[in-house]
Amino acid sequence: MDLDKIRIEAESEIEGAHDRRALEEIRVKYLGKKGIITSALKGIGGLPKEDRPAAGERINAVKVAIEEKLNHKLKVLEEKELEEKLKQEYIDITVPGRRPGLGHLHPLTIVREEITEIFMGLGFSIAEGPEIEYDYYNFEALNIPRDHPARDIQDTFYINDNIVLRTHTSPVQVRTMEKQKPPIRVIVPGRVYRSDDIDATHSPVFHQVEGLVIDRGVTMGDLKGVLSLFARQLFGEDTKTKFRPHYFPFTEPSAEMDVTCMACKGRGCRVCKGTGWIEILGSGMVHPRVLSMSGIDPNEYSGFAFGMGLDRIAMLKYGIDDLRLFFENDIRFIKQF
Ligand code: DAH
Repeated sequence: MDLDKIRIEAESEIEGAHDRRALEEIRVKYLGKKGIITSALKGIGGLPKEDRPAAGERINAVKVAIEEKLNHKLKVLEEKELEEKLKQEYIDITVPGRRPGLGHLHPLTIVREEITEIFMGLGFSIAEGPEIEYDYYNFEALNIPRDHPARDIQDTFYINDNIVLRTHTSPVQVRTMEKQKPPIRVIVPGRVYRSDDIDATHSPVFHQVEGLVIDRGVTMGDLKGVLSLFARQLFGEDTKTKFRPHYFPFTEPSAEMDVTCMACKGRGCRVCKGTGWIEILGSGMVHPRVLSMSGIDPNEYSGFAFGMGLDRIAMLKYGIDDLRLFFENDIRFIKQF
């Protein structure tokens, strides 16, 4: 048996192995149970006694040489594999991270929270009601007679004869009075609907904040005090208020409240059309008929109510000149507030 030849052959096979599996096959071929070297070692028993030690020594030397070569090659292959794996899984940690986009409160949400917070500071709590509302609550119980222009099919989205999309938050006044005994102090922010065409100041869906106060001995003085304080807190300490007589079916007397124009501080400008004043809400003493229809005795109790357009107030406060921007939800717009 030419051991040198075997060694040289084994070494060149090992050298040519491309992966660990091929290397393992070579190991089995030479050093496995039935491998060439193993068999040669077993064959020593058949040699004359005096030749055995020398043969054993020579075969062992080849075995050790092949083992060393195998181990060395194994390390080389393992390193190569690791290198390839690392190359595949390489992550460039110097690339700047992608910042997850943070949301931003909508300007209407900001103003709504500001308004409700002011009233909560005055002892009001928040009430809510359905956006799909009975005709009774939206109109009838608010003393809006059958032939009132506000009921015109043009303004109101009708679901059927008895059910509408609420055209204002005022029906929640009635729902609150039906459920709650005076004293009542509630604020009602909510979405309302009118069949208007969309333009810079109109939208078929918009937002209102309603208010209602009912107790013994509530007067117009309370109405003016609360609403003037509210205006100063919302628009600034130097804001003046003015109440103009008006008509609403559900209040008597009724008034609209103007505040000094926030754009020109009352000097007169394009926003206030040169008058120095801006109308921001409707209000009045709750009509005795509305009280009694809701189960409250008008001889014992009185109260005031008010309603304002949230979108309009947000536009005035932030100097936004197109209502449609509120509904487009362009994050670049929203992030400015
Ligand atoms: N509901 C009225 C509207 O949508 C606003 C309003 C006026 C509400 C006077 C009131 C009020 O509570 O007293 O135009």
